[in-house]
Amino acid sequence: MAKKVLILSSSPRRGGNSDTLCDEFLRGAADAGNDTEKIFLRDKNIGYCTGCGTCSLYGKPCPQQDDAAEIVGKMVAADVIVMATPVYFYTMSAQMKTLIDRCCGRYTELKNKEFRFIVTAAEDDRRKMLRTVDTFQGFLDCLDGPTVGGVVYGTGVWHAGEIAGKPAMREAYEAGKGIR
Ligand SMILES: Cc1cc2nc3c(=O)[nH]c(=O)nc-3n(C[C@H](O)[C@H](O)[C@H](O)COP(=O)(O)O)c2cc1C
Repeated sequence: MAKKVLILSSSPRRGGNSDTLCDEFLRGAADAGNDTEKIFLRDKNIGYCTGCGTCSLYGKPCPQQDDAAEIVGKMVAADVIVMATPVYFYTMSAQMKTLIDRCCGRYTELKNKEFRFIVTAAEDDRRKMLRTVDTFQGFLDCLDGPTVGGVVYGTGVWHAGEIAGKPAMREAYEAGKGIR
């Protein structure tokens, strides 16, 4: 049965290395018959969580009138959530972290989701990416029943376009194709 696959592309560089891997992942997932959508976060207006407590203390929707509610709603509806980030000082992008924080009001509804991660970095050593992947794990630790389907590592890429021809391109396509 087709799954709903939501890809969150968080690099500020459209068409950059992680965004390109998102497109490959999407192509594979679509070829396997899934229902796919990519959201390029930089196109969206997503304010910082202010910790006001409206959601956590009073159970009311976030008072911020921006694009976060729609995106978080799509995360709740998805079967598979792909979170893609460039490595910035050995953690995820600010755009991705800002969205995660805005899940505050609905994170308990993110149940039994399958997560996939895509990370790109100038550094060639995958072991150095583990800290970045672990920051995502902190988010998953707060959720009910998440599973991690795998990580695509686009390492050794600095400038936009350098991902072309790297093994990560095929890995991203195959990872998407494997979703059924
Ligand atoms: C502000 C900034 C911080 C970065 N920090 C790291 C880092 O800590 N380790 C690393 O290997 N690469 C680092 N990089 C390089 C990016 O991870 C690399 O250019 C990556 O390919 C960007 O992915 P993108 O094209 O999807 O934006 C950094 C780049 C920028 C602009």
